[in-house]
Amino acid sequence: MAPKRVGAWLIGAYGALATTVVVGAKAVARGLCDRTGLVTELAELRGLPLLPLDGLVFGGWDIRRFSVWKRAEELAARDAAIPSGLLPSLKADLRAIDREVRPGTAVNSGPAISVLADPTMQSASETLHDTVERLAGDLEAFRLRHRLDRVVVVNLASTEPPLKVGRKLRRLDDFLRLIRQDRRQEISPSVLYAYAALRGGFPYINFTPSVGASIPALHELALKHQVPFYGNDGKTGETLVKTVLAPLFCYRNLRVLSWKGYNILGGLDGMVLRDQRHKLLKVRSKERVLAGILGYRPYGGVSIEYVPSLGSWKTAWDFIHFEGFLGTRMSLQFIWQGCDAILAAPLVLDLIRLTEFAHRRGEAGPMTHLACFFKDPMGVKEHRFSHQWEILLQYVNQHRAALEAR
Ligand SMILES: NC(=O)c1ccc[n+]([C@@H]2O[C@H](COP(=O)([O-])OP(=O)(O)OC[C@H]3O[C@@H](n4cnc5c(N)ncnc54)[C@H](O)[C@@H]3O)[C@@H](O)[C@H]2O)c1
Repeated sequence: MAPKRVGAWLIGAYGALATTVVVGAKAVARGLCDRTGLVTELAELRGLPLLPLDGLVFGGWDIRRFSVWKRAEELAARDAAIPSGLLPSLKADLRAIDREVRPGTAVNSGPAISVLADPTMQSASETLHDTVERLAGDLEAFRLRHRLDRVVVVNLASTEPPLKVGRKLRRLDDFLRLIRQDRRQEISPSVLYAYAALRGGFPYINFTPSVGASIPALHELALKHQVPFYGNDGKTGETLVKTVLAPLFCYRNLRVLSWKGYNILGGLDGMVLRDQRHKLLKVRSKERVLAGILGYRPYGGVSIEYVPSLGSWKTAWDFIHFEGFLGTRMSLQFIWQGCDAILAAPLVLDLIRLTEFAHRRGEAGPMTHLACFFKDPMGVKEHRFSHQWEILLQYVNQHRAALEAR
């Protein structure tokens, strides 16, 4: 049986992606658009009793004082990223979500994020312990206020700089001591959010490259509380194409000499990623896939540049130089032009549904069957998209068979 009421708590609630997630969920629930882009609506995944989108209640954290409704208006009017005709019928829904957004934390979030934050959300007087208690309280209050069967927490906030995963982040005991000692330079918001979620028994998804639940101490915590989690960094554009295309060169025994990817994007995400420190994790997760598939590292790399006028739109141009029979060199190029949040939002809804299902079935720990949704899938070395897709189908078929056998 699918549950009746499930909450989705979005970290970065006023962002382009979070806003598109709620606009999309409400539009589908009200029958204002079809379900194109939702993987969980494919025939292969039907048969799993996934939660219906009209049962989803949204809330979240942000560090700016803004509004989901205003962000949706901007995305429609300025960026043409959301059809403006949808918005009047969703105004009441979006205003209601605005009332469910709470102040997050920007402690040690990196230079490009801390300049965005409302000064009250960087309070030096709030200790890490108090921050965690406040965040945990927000989640529990949300669950009780709406009488929710469960709440899935999803990180959709701006990308943080890397965090050195030292000894203190390896074991849960050491991690807890670090919080008690208020060592804020050794922790980042994504880790605090993941901790608050897992400690409260709320499943957690990290759609960003930030550290989130990747540290061993939080794996330990998730298993202790029997909570599923997964990440990192949603695979929606250039990297998705790469993981479909790269196996072709392996299957035909063609040697890739160079693979260079140039990305330009606008929006707030682009503005944050303009800072080298914030860009680092994004570039790392984008670059990892090729060596994983080809078995060697061709010359190349990925660049990401900010072009403000693009707004929510992104262009990637990839140049692939390869060698064939008799050493003859050839090339392949592709250009991907996408609306970032439109590609990502349905996947976030898919992840909420599949995570809620896993939690309902009593599963805990990293949900490796969700690897196909991520650029840097936790605990999975397989980057070929088709193989990752098979892993998901295997999981679905196992569950379908078990449910039918009941
Ligand atoms: N196709 C995609 O859209 C896609 C794919 C993969 C990953 N991502 C990642 O998803 C994230 C969101 O993308 P976006 O386009 O919505 O970005 P965005 O800049 O529009 O939104 C980010 C939001 O997070 C908020 N925020 C920043 N730090 C926060 C914190 N510590 N706590 C709470 N809120 C915080 C910001 O105020 C902003 O409202 C980014 O990290 C991006 O890299 C997006």
